[in-house]
Amino acid sequence: MHHSPFTSLVALGSLLAAATSTAHQFPSTHASSVSEETYDYIVVGGGPSGIIAAERIAETNKKVLLLERGTGPTVSTGANKTLSWNDTLTPIDVPGLSTALSEVGLFSEYVCDDTAGTAACVLGGGCTINYMVFVHPQEADFNDKWPQGWKWSDVEPAANRLYERNPGTSLPSADGKRYDYGIYSILSGFLDTVGWKAVDQVANPNEKYQAYSYPVWNVKDEKRAGPLRTYLPLAQQSKSFTLRTGVKVNRVVRTGSTATGVEIQTANGTSIVQLAPNGRVVLAAGAMGSPHVLFNSGIGPQAEIAKAQSAGISVPAEKDWISLPVGAGIKDHPIFLVNVQSNGTFSLLNTTSVVAGTDTADIELYDEQDSGILTQGRHRLVFWTSNVASDNVTRFYQGSVGATTGEGVIAITAYMTHGLTSSGTLVLNDAGNATVFETVPYLQTAGDREAATDFIQQMVDYYNNPAANFSIQGYTNVSAILDSYTAGIHFVGSNKLGTDDGRLANGTSVVDTNAKVYGMDNLYVVDASIHPDLPTGNAQAIVMVVAEAAIAKILSA
Ligand SMILES: Cc1cc2nc3c(=O)[nH]c(=O)nc-3n(C[C@H](O)[C@H](O)[C@H](O)COP(=O)(O)OP(=O)(O)OC[C@H]3O[C@@H](n4cnc5c(N)ncnc54)[C@H](O)[C@@H]3O)c2cc1C
Ligand SMILES: *[C@@H]1O[C@H](CO)[C@@H](O)[C@H](O)[C@H]1NC(C)=O
Ligand SMILES: *[C@@H]1O[C@H](CO)[C@@H](O)[C@H](O)[C@H]1NC(C)=O
Ligand SMILES: *[C@@H]1O[C@H](CO)[C@@H](O)[C@H](O)[C@H]1NC(C)=O
Ligand SMILES: *[C@@H]1O[C@H](CO)[C@@H](O)[C@H](O)[C@H]1NC(C)=O
Ligand SMILES: *[C@@H]1O[C@H](CO)[C@@H](O)[C@H](O)[C@H]1NC(C)=O
Ligand SMILES: *[C@@H]1O[C@H](CO)[C@@H](O)[C@H](O)[C@H]1NC(C)=O
Ligand SMILES: *[C@@H]1O[C@H](CO)[C@@H](O)[C@H](O)[C@H]1NC(C)=O
Ligand SMILES: *[C@@H]1O[C@H](CO)[C@@H](O)[C@H](O)[C@H]1NC(C)=O
Ligand SMILES: *[C@@H]1O[C@H](CO)[C@@H](O)[C@H](O)[C@H]1NC(C)=O
Ligand SMILES: *[C@@H]1O[C@H](CO)[C@@H](O)[C@H](O)[C@H]1NC(C)=O
Repeated sequence: MHHSPFTSLVALGSLLAAATSTAHQFPSTHASSVSEETYDYIVVGGGPSGIIAAERIAETNKKVLLLERGTGPTVSTGANKTLSWNDTLTPIDVPGLSTALSEVGLFSEYVCDDTAGTAACVLGGGCTINYMVFVHPQEADFNDKWPQGWKWSDVEPAANRLYERNPGTSLPSADGKRYDYGIYSILSGFLDTVGWKAVDQVANPNEKYQAYSYPVWNVKDEKRAGPLRTYLPLAQQSKSFTLRTGVKVNRVVRTGSTATGVEIQTANGTSIVQLAPNGRVVLAAGAMGSPHVLFNSGIGPQAEIAKAQSAGISVPAEKDWISLPVGAGIKDHPIFLVNVQSNGTFSLLNTTSVVAGTDTADIELYDEQDSGILTQGRHRLVFWTSNVASDNVTRFYQGSVGATTGEGVIAITAYMTHGLTSSGTLVLNDAGNATVFETVPYLQTAGDREAATDFIQQMVDYYNNPAANFSIQGYTNVSAILDSYTAGIHFVGSNKLGTDDGRLANGTSVVDTNAKVYGMDNLYVVDASIHPDLPTGNAQAIVMVVAEAAIAKILSA
């Protein structure tokens, strides 16, 4: 890991704080130390967006500090809970163990305790604990609702920069074979009979109607990929880059519309890291983390800033509060789960025996030949379709299909995606120390409920078709399936990017088309919170594309 000279300066900073007065920034009881070292850029949050942004900044030789509240999850980033059978790997690295993170205790260790929906508080962000499903966005994901400057033709070069380093793969095993594809043969055979078609989702990302594909995973060199593996090592080669983990940013410190640094909280207490003259702060704390930092910085609805203040955060004087619709309009994909019994003989990989080291066949294939089922993620087929409800809106659906408990049981995780019209509201809880939903983002509109009902009815009809030899398990009727929806964990839109300045009447946007917070001179946001629309597939690929595009605009602005 890159060692920064900064840590020793924390102590020095404490001495300086005792000698110099920072009282104007802290009217309350606590005195905070101030760093001597300053940075051209401070990036808040070491998830996919933050790592990409910080690495691209480091390439320009600007001095950049990346602050992550969690720890590193891999050996090279400081983790020491390695696998019993390979002391260079943690369960995070091995694609086949992506379903075992709860079992080994890492999911609870890495998940945030202060967000409205599930989010990861670990270096690498959501990409460290997710199922690695990697869906290249279709053009409509940008062309429908993103503003000028953010259409597919504008962001395509950013997508290509991402795919060059982090392409994902549908064939991760080094021997070129697919393992355990019984589900694919059964389900593809059935989908063919009802008129769907097989597509190559990477070559033809716009084919999203009655189409199915092999899954593409965020895997590279037989390990979980993502910016932690594909960008961070590049940044760490640069002298201008510093990473600090275990550092939670409470708020942006600002003088009026100019950010001057950030207030951080570590095991050593609270202190301030300062920007160099003309420096900038880039928020990448995620769709729930970045709104929280903004509320604490006096930016957002008045009620939320007031809650942060009553929780003891040193928000700016009220005259400097910036009224923006932070947290309004947060969106997610609702999931409908349908389990179907087939006559197949496949079953879930037994990860307990992989973790224990007793599944020697799969472990040897992985360790010695970079091959086998452990190079693959959970899913075996991904499908898409769309429908049009009576509001004339086209809504898309994705199904991610894999095994579950019970031989031959096909688990279909079906999401309603791009085109859905519901949104929620993210606020602070009454204690002012965690985000919660004032309104959940799911199935709030009649159009969404009608469209979801039609889609689920289509699935139920398919799997009840006697010729198909399937039977639906668990919830079997449409209304029960609809009502049992769960969170897709693909949150976007809580700091919407757009041309309609949210400070003005009816304005809905928090950041402008250069990803700069309205009303601030040098504060930017690059993570999932700025997306004005939901993608057709899982979020991580488009989140990375947008971070690449946003940091390019920021560096040239
Ligand atoms: C359990 C789960 C499963 C998922 N499955 C998939 C999937 O299979 N495929 C897919 O495409 N997408 C999936 N996603 C979604 C995807 O991972 C996210 O869309 C993506 O990670 C969002 O990236 P981000 O950079 O916006 O934010 P995040 O990934 O949330 O990263 C934010 C980072 O900021 C840090 N942070 C937050 N607050 C602070 C603070 N105050 N100070 C310092 N650091 C801070 C966090 O620790 C984190 O590292 C899943 C997400 C989760 C949580
Ligand atoms: C392993 O890492 C944890 C958390 O970072 C740390 O507290 C512990 O001391 C480490 N253990 C060893 C043996 O290095
Ligand atoms: C928020 O504050 C409440 C009340 O003080 C406390 O019980 C809770 O643990 C805190 N939550 C977090 C995430 O810090
Ligand atoms: C806390 O201070 C000690 C002593 O200066 C330092 O070694 C350590 O890295 C600091 N921890 C954090 C999280 O900053
Ligand atoms: C359905 O599958 C069962 C095995 O589960 C098999 O015995 C039966 O022949 C199949 N029926 C048809 C119509 O294919
Ligand atoms: C998985 O493997 C473990 C350990 O080898 C074993 O105890 C357990 O019964 C297996 N589980 C299943 C569902 O086969
Ligand atoms: C452990 O995994 C690494 C990375 O995949 C591999 O290079 C190495 O050979 C493995 N070690 C053993 C002992 O199998
Ligand atoms: C939907 O489109 C049809 C045909 O163009 C039109 O008749 C109808 O009024 C539209 N409905 C809505 C709600 O816009
Ligand atoms: C399973 O069902 C399919 C579809 O009906 C049928 O073609 C096949 O023969 C069955 N397989 C077995 C092993 O029964
Ligand atoms: C649908 O299923 C639920 C749960 O299994 C059940 O309670 C409900 O009565 C069913 N509704 C209809 C219309 O069959
Ligand atoms: C804001 O929206 C309301 C209701 O749609 C409308 O009456 C009002 O004129 C709008 N104000 C501005 C400044 O656009």
